[in-house]
Amino acid sequence: MSASSKLPIVQMDSAEDLAQRLADAIVEKLQSAIDADGKASLVVSGGSTPKPLFEALSQRALPWSAVTVTLADERWVPESDSDSNATFVKTHLLKDEAAGATFVSLYEDQKTPHDGVSLVNERLKGVPQPFTVVILGMGGDGHTASLFPDAPGTEAAMTETQSLVSIVEPSTVPQARITLTLRALMNTDCQFLHISGQEKRALVDEVLGDPAQSTYPIAQFLQATNQRITIYSTH
Ligand code: 6PG
Repeated sequence: MSASSKLPIVQMDSAEDLAQRLADAIVEKLQSAIDADGKASLVVSGGSTPKPLFEALSQRALPWSAVTVTLADERWVPESDSDSNATFVKTHLLKDEAAGATFVSLYEDQKTPHDGVSLVNERLKGVPQPFTVVILGMGGDGHTASLFPDAPGTEAAMTETQSLVSIVEPSTVPQARITLTLRALMNTDCQFLHISGQEKRALVDEVLGDPAQSTYPIAQFLQATNQRITIYSTH
């Protein structure tokens, strides 16, 4: 049995119960880091699954002023665009109790990510690392962060060792993406894979069965994670 098939899975019947349970685990980890080091860093993903989680976290009492929040990936759009992950995070997470957290964006007001990636990389170096917590989602095609299967840039993002971010240009989504590299996403001792729905759980179970045989980016991720990850799933 491969190591990744033994990964811990927390399963709850509702997205809301799962979000509250995951928020408990995240808050505990962030508080421990703040108690130990006076600061913490939280890497979050975009998409739709995280909404109840962000809403739950925004209501949790925590020294949020000691927490730096950044993204696992971003669509290359300004915050005025409804597809912006930064806007999604600011709308649902960085409010109420969590309003005092520091947010580090992965977007620069440049025409393409190629023009802005160096500036983003420099900015990210200021985020406390190793990251305290990294939260990932997964698409139905097995992508995580913006590590999309068969997309220009994914292989480079999987092998990059210097830059913290890399550019991926999938043909299956409207915008070019900037993503934390696999190496950057691994620079933590606490990862959560947050998924919702039977289809995604079935895909994860398929990958966990024999990750070495899978070409999905999530498979490469789960092989690399070495027990640092807990899967939170509604199914
Ligand atoms: C993004 C996310 C991405 C997301 C998956 C799942 O920018 O879209 O970072 O990796 O986690 O696409 O998205 P859903 O939660 O919407 O299914």
